[in-house]
Amino acid sequence: MAESGFVKVAQTGEIAPGQMKPVRLGEEEVLLVNIDGNFHAISDTCSHQGGTLSDGDLDGEQVECPLHGAAFNVVTGDVLSPPARQGVPTHEVRISGNDILLGPARG
Ligand code: FES
Repeated sequence: MAESGFVKVAQTGEIAPGQMKPVRLGEEEVLLVNIDGNFHAISDTCSHQGGTLSDGDLDGEQVECPLHGAAFNVVTGDVLSPPARQGVPTHEVRISGNDILLGPARG
């Protein structure tokens, strides 16, 4: 059952460990990532010039923007390397049965 403020965006079986998937949450593009069975969600839009992070490469907890190579931590949303200077928002993830639910953006 969905909890207040949380929206189902995917099912756990859709994203294997080490993989990521772009989903929509209302008007937002969100990047869902499975790291060792734990799901994390950050904005799918690079804070530099709007590159689509889900088109980039995932290496551990780090995703690299395909446009100019900025890197972000998919757990914290922190920027790890330029040219981006700011991190990206994160979303709280909750699992309900096989459903992945996201809360609103934070940060
Ligand atoms: S748009 Fe992502 S690094 Fe430039």
